[in-house]
Amino acid sequence: MIEKIQSIWNASYGELFPIDERLIRRNLLECEAPVDWVQADGCLALLRRPKPLWPELDQNTCWIAAFAGDAAALAAVIDQARAQGYKKLSFGADPFHLWPGVPKEYSELIRLLEDHGFEMGGEAFDLSADLGQIALPSVDLPSGYRIAMLDEPSQLLDFLSTEFPGRWHYDTANRLKQETYGLVLLWRGDRVVGFSHIFDETSADLGGSVFWRAAMGRHWGGLGPIGIGKSERGKGLGMALLIGALRVLQSHGARQCVIDWTDLANFYGKLGFKPWRTYLRAWKAL
Ligand SMILES: CC(C)(COP(=O)(O)OP(=O)(O)OC[C@H]1O[C@@H](n2cnc3c(N)ncnc32)[C@H](O)[C@@H]1OP(=O)(O)O)[C@@H](O)C(=O)NCCC(=O)NCCS
Repeated sequence: MIEKIQSIWNASYGELFPIDERLIRRNLLECEAPVDWVQADGCLALLRRPKPLWPELDQNTCWIAAFAGDAAALAAVIDQARAQGYKKLSFGADPFHLWPGVPKEYSELIRLLEDHGFEMGGEAFDLSADLGQIALPSVDLPSGYRIAMLDEPSQLLDFLSTEFPGRWHYDTANRLKQETYGLVLLWRGDRVVGFSHIFDETSADLGGSVFWRAAMGRHWGGLGPIGIGKSERGKGLGMALLIGALRVLQSHGARQCVIDWTDLANFYGKLGFKPWRTYLRAWKAL
């Protein structure tokens, strides 16, 4: 199964999105919402059904987690999703996603989805910059604030369950089962008021920013998600945390750095990040 997924995926998408066994196990086969293989000759058609992984996760939506195939294969996926009683089928953006939508480069795939009644929505980006080339500005935090790596998981999880109770809480709790490395936090006194994930060659877990690390060259790094508590936004703290987290990556020798699944190109663009991959949201009412 792993080899079949890998060979079909890489034959279609391997240049921009090279997949490996680790990612297939983590995101498709050995996660809490594993995929079902929809039978279609020689095609890759993986359907993911919802599980109550976090509070607002819509249980009427299922997802195409991976697809490389023809019109008959896509019709088979749609039929299966409909037969199981789901109301909506989304392309990507699933729990344990590979893609947050359909990559804009794959015009034939976009056309195939449109021909089958998929609606196309807004863009999301993976952004990238070379941390060896960009000069990060210095930051003066207001008094009482500091940026530090995680030392006590419960403080972070309490913050996330209040401020970001969905996917980010879930993904972070999953990561913490494997490692406490990679969480760069903004503290106000003894309270967490902002968080970010970083990934590099020493991380035990993978995040969306580094799924495609084989296309990122040596000394890859990644960042995301990042978030600031609502009452602390708009005071320069998000940018300060972003700079602080990128400094950690820089100090670990990371070069090409990706920030995944965002529509805030202007925010990250202030530090020189530019679009690396572009996705269109795609979904179909069943
Ligand atoms: C996005 C977020 C981290 C920004 O943090 P913040 O503390 O509110 O932002 P800052 O005050 O540090 O803003 C720094 C600069 O970025 C700009 N900026 C802030 N949010 C922005 C946004 N959403 N889009 C574009 N620019 C933005 C600010 O205007 C400011 O510009 P200036 O220096 O020219 O005045 C924060 O708003 C947040 O947590 N939002 C919810 C979660 C989220 O969307 N995270 C990012 C997911 S990819």
